[in-house]
Amino acid sequence: MRLLLRFGAPLVAVLAVLAALLTPVADHLVSRWFQHDVEMRSRLIFSSVHDSLTELMRSSSNKEIKTLFDRIAEDERVLAVGWCGPDAKLRLASKNWPRVLTCRSNSGPLTQSFHTESLTHGSVLHGLFPLSAEEPSLGQLAILHDLTFIERRSLTARLYIMGFLVLLAIAAASVTVLMAQLTLRGWIKSVRMALNAPASDYRQSQGADPQLVPMMGEIRQLLRDLDISRRTATGIRVDWSPDTLRQVLDNELPGVDVLVLSNREPYIHNRDASGNIAMQRPASGLVTALEPITRACRGTWVAHGSGSADRETVDGNDHIGVPPDDPVYTLRRVWLSEDEQNGYYYGLSNEGLWPLCHITYVRPVFREQDWEQYVSVNRKFAEAIVTEAKRPDPLVLVQDYHFALAPRMIRERLPDATIITFWHIPWPNSEVFGICPWREAILNGLLGSSVIGFHTQLHCNNFIETADRFIECHIDREQSTISVGGHCALVRPYPISIDWPPAALKGQAPVSECRSAVLDRYHLPKATLLAVGVERFDFTKGIPDRFRAVELLLEKHPEWIGRFVLIQVAAPSRSKLAVYQDIQNETIMIAEQINQRFGRAGYKPIILVAQHHEPEQVYELFRAADLCIVSSLHDGMNLVAKEFVAARDDEQGVLILSTFAGASRELMEALIVNPFDAKATSDAIDQALRMAPGLQAERMHLMREMVSENNVYYWAGRMLLDASRIRKRGRIESSIAKASGAL
Ligand code: G6P
Repeated sequence: MRLLLRFGAPLVAVLAVLAALLTPVADHLVSRWFQHDVEMRSRLIFSSVHDSLTELMRSSSNKEIKTLFDRIAEDERVLAVGWCGPDAKLRLASKNWPRVLTCRSNSGPLTQSFHTESLTHGSVLHGLFPLSAEEPSLGQLAILHDLTFIERRSLTARLYIMGFLVLLAIAAASVTVLMAQLTLRGWIKSVRMALNAPASDYRQSQGADPQLVPMMGEIRQLLRDLDISRRTATGIRVDWSPDTLRQVLDNELPGVDVLVLSNREPYIHNRDASGNIAMQRPASGLVTALEPITRACRGTWVAHGSGSADRETVDGNDHIGVPPDDPVYTLRRVWLSEDEQNGYYYGLSNEGLWPLCHITYVRPVFREQDWEQYVSVNRKFAEAIVTEAKRPDPLVLVQDYHFALAPRMIRERLPDATIITFWHIPWPNSEVFGICPWREAILNGLLGSSVIGFHTQLHCNNFIETADRFIECHIDREQSTISVGGHCALVRPYPISIDWPPAALKGQAPVSECRSAVLDRYHLPKATLLAVGVERFDFTKGIPDRFRAVELLLEKHPEWIGRFVLIQVAAPSRSKLAVYQDIQNETIMIAEQINQRFGRAGYKPIILVAQHHEPEQVYELFRAADLCIVSSLHDGMNLVAKEFVAARDDEQGVLILSTFAGASRELMEALIVNPFDAKATSDAIDQALRMAPGLQAERMHLMREMVSENNVYYWAGRMLLDASRIRKRGRIESSIAKASGAL
């Protein structure tokens, strides 16, 4: 119907114009034809009666002439006949001669020529015929015709023409619509074929419209862009990937300069015992998440160059292209003195803020000199960001508790920067945070950001409550924003995640082979029920609590003795600090106690591997295991839990997860435990060991779906979309301010 209107309406309009133009022409032609016809008839009548009439006129037989005239006038279209004398007077006429009419026209006496002097009078036509050329005294014969029928006929002709044109319009419109339908159908079929087939197949496929081939790339791209915009705008599921993230950057933040700031660098170069330079990827959830993002954004990452061979591997600007084997982004290393590291990293960051933010009952230590180093190192990194910025309005992604002051410092130097700060660890409630002597400075520093992100809504609430309690600010709880000194920061939860599918999964052997390899490596029998734990040696991870739960399990369920083994990988971390040394010693001691109690020749229930593992080794271990235990006492997110799920493409294996890790809000199909409750944790291990493969698959399937959808690109994408909205709003506000200033 819409097609009919679209094609039919213009056609009808064209034909209406044609009808309007043609009707007068047709009218004119029709009346000319009929007049000519009547004139011919008059001639015929005249020639047929001429001889007998002139005879009667010469013999002055008026009565016969009158009879003849009346007879002629009986003809259907002849109105009357009259005899005009040479003096232009009417001598005789048939009975219905109009009385108003004389042999004289308005313009003078009627002359001899029929063609030039024939005239219409209303609906009457005069035909004047000279009766004899030799005898002008005989005068002329006037034959009058009723021409009203011409008008009637021309009206009928007009109606026919209109009818014909209408029919023509309908026929033409129908044919056009039909043709358009057929063409459109063919075109849609071609486009569908092209969109469903891979680009190469389409080119080769028969019936492909050759005109479409060059356009297909563009159409596909447009559809993808549209789809992403629609889905991102409406929150519908998007398969987030490096490509999607790049599209968000290209569409929402075109040409933006992306700078990442973190303490830990993604690639560390160390000189090993044999004097060779070895590259290491650190055990850091932050690095695990940010690395794929920085690759996708092709930005610059500014971080502390902590490796013993780091200085030897950079260029004159302290830059190195990474990943070293295929560089896609730049790592800018910043050097710190020992004093700076002691005060800023070990001191304020890891003895102060880390225990302050994690509820693990380790007392935070606050030293004035650590704070001074923290302030000056934050300034040093902020300066490095300013130096690396290619434009005055970069997008700066500030990471973690090492840089609480940097956002405000960067803002002072680059007021137009968009600064997204992500706090990777929990934020405690205001009462807990309130013990920090520099609480106001930390809050004000963070509030220089455009966006402040936490893993959970609870931590956002805690942060807002802390700001409310300790600093002068305006809080909009509906919008979740905090304004200080005219600058507004958005506070939002963005649960962090991992790359999907993770790079470390690439090239992994099938699960059965991983399992055999790991069991062989640790000299374990094939029937071993294997649990794994992988983390840094940190008091927040609850490794001793996990061991106590294993002890309880073996105590209550002796049937597992000899069969159950926990391989605990613990990468040494922050070992310079006494509290970390203590946790290492304590953990080793507990493992030994349990092994002594339940172990026997060739069997140790706990294998503690206090060594850094590269991601590929960790994934192999995950694939070999029957269960993975994440028993953090408090954790912002915990990416180990998500990595275990990602490693299990066979959908087997059970995850035991602490309720105090942010990941427990998302991985609800794990066995959720309170790690402070050793009995409940040991029950969960027992439940995991007995779980049927079908149930394992059901739970693992759901968790894998969750992590694949909410992957790290989704995490970054949501922050970038928020940043882009803030940026656009900021531009509008500044142009309004400029305009009102100009008035
Ligand atoms: C946590 C922190 C990160 C840190 C990582 C490793 O995940 O949130 O910022 O990088 O621990 O700690 P490290 O001190 O070795 O960098």
